[in-house]
Amino acid sequence: MKKSVEVCLTPELIHQHELGGKIAVVVDIFRATSCIVAGLHYGVNSVTPVGSVEACLSLGKQGFVTAGERGGQKIEEFDIGNSPFDYQNPDFIGRDVAITTTNGTMAIERSRNADEIVIGSFLNLSPTAGYLKSQNKSVVIHCAGWKGTPNIEDTLFAGAMIDRLGLDLSGDSSRMSLDLFKHHEEDLLSIAKVSGHARRLAGFGITKDIEYCMNVDEFKDVVVGMVDGRLVKI
Ligand code: MLT
Repeated sequence: MKKSVEVCLTPELIHQHELGGKIAVVVDIFRATSCIVAGLHYGVNSVTPVGSVEACLSLGKQGFVTAGERGGQKIEEFDIGNSPFDYQNPDFIGRDVAITTTNGTMAIERSRNADEIVIGSFLNLSPTAGYLKSQNKSVVIHCAGWKGTPNIEDTLFAGAMIDRLGLDLSGDSSRMSLDLFKHHEEDLLSIAKVSGHARRLAGFGITKDIEYCMNVDEFKDVVVGMVDGRLVKI
């Protein structure tokens, strides 16, 4: 069968996509999947996504670093928030992290019917595209969006990934994503900055994360996937 790529613009629509036999690429550019990729690049051993603050705190009691946010803001009892800069800490090298976020970890959870889950970010766009090309499976890019609605930054990523994969497009959302990316290819940051969540984060004074998460190919050899419920370098 010929490989294809499709895009699910929000987790609310994932039931419309057949995931069996395919690789789900979960993406939450601002900021969950960018954090996961950065964390593994900077040396954490694994990242376990969980659905609730309580589940995260319970893993914390077992020695995990607790990470994440609600509504974009750090949870008071957690060790760290949801900034890729939080992971640039030598104390976390070799540690296991438990993470819960508003949208990203839920999109990961809702991808569990896929043959394989891979984590997408601009930070490791090319190595991830290389991995997907090397596998004999169709791809579903699962955008986390914001509280059930599509967003600009995840859709841009979907288009950028489609552009690199060069596979048959399945569904109109894949063409829409590619066109959005092509239109803004020369300046991804400007369009990403006007997205609803970028403006929400800027309202909290968080602007450096936005620029950082839009860096294409900051990490040249990191590919992240789910193995036995944990996200690790693959
Ligand atoms: C999410 O999962 O919704 C995000 O990662 C939110 C954030 O920017 O921290």
